[in-house]
Amino acid sequence: MSEKRQQVSRRQFLNYTLTGVGGFMAAGMLAPMVRFAIDPALQASTAGEFKAVEEVDNITEEPTRIDWEIEQVDAWYESTVTKTAWVYKDENGDIVALSPICKHLGCMVTWAGSDEYPDQFYCPCHDGRYYKDGENVPNTPPAEGLDFYEYKIEDGTLLLGPTKPRGEA
Ligand code: FES
Repeated sequence: MSEKRQQVSRRQFLNYTLTGVGGFMAAGMLAPMVRFAIDPALQASTAGEFKAVEEVDNITEEPTRIDWEIEQVDAWYESTVTKTAWVYKDENGDIVALSPICKHLGCMVTWAGSDEYPDQFYCPCHDGRYYKDGENVPNTPPAEGLDFYEYKIEDGTLLLGPTKPRGEA
């Protein structure tokens, strides 16, 4: 029985060698580009962090507007964003921190924004109204109440985090 030797022709050898070397070089060039393209999207955003905004002792039962800034990373775009909350202490002394974003079409609500309703949040865009606790006033445009901010208290300081719809709060 004769042993068959596998012959590799010169043409096949060149094909294998050039394909291998070419593939290796292409991978070496593409890897940094792919990493550059997708890396920012994999980075954690700072949007969910808590920020110190006010001393708890300074917060009263009257809703007060508090503004603060966060560094926001949105894939490749970094920016400083101003956040706003309406904050007060309820009758039990617990903190209530409400989003100012109207649940109708996203305008900004203000406490006592209408002379007619001095004890409600008012949205000037379509006369939307909310009670002090953020619940929407029936028969006004918003179909649901204002979102809550998640909050923590550390060393007498109020820290605000992301917002949550009131059903999840
Ligand atoms: S956006 Fe607020 S009532 Fe329409």
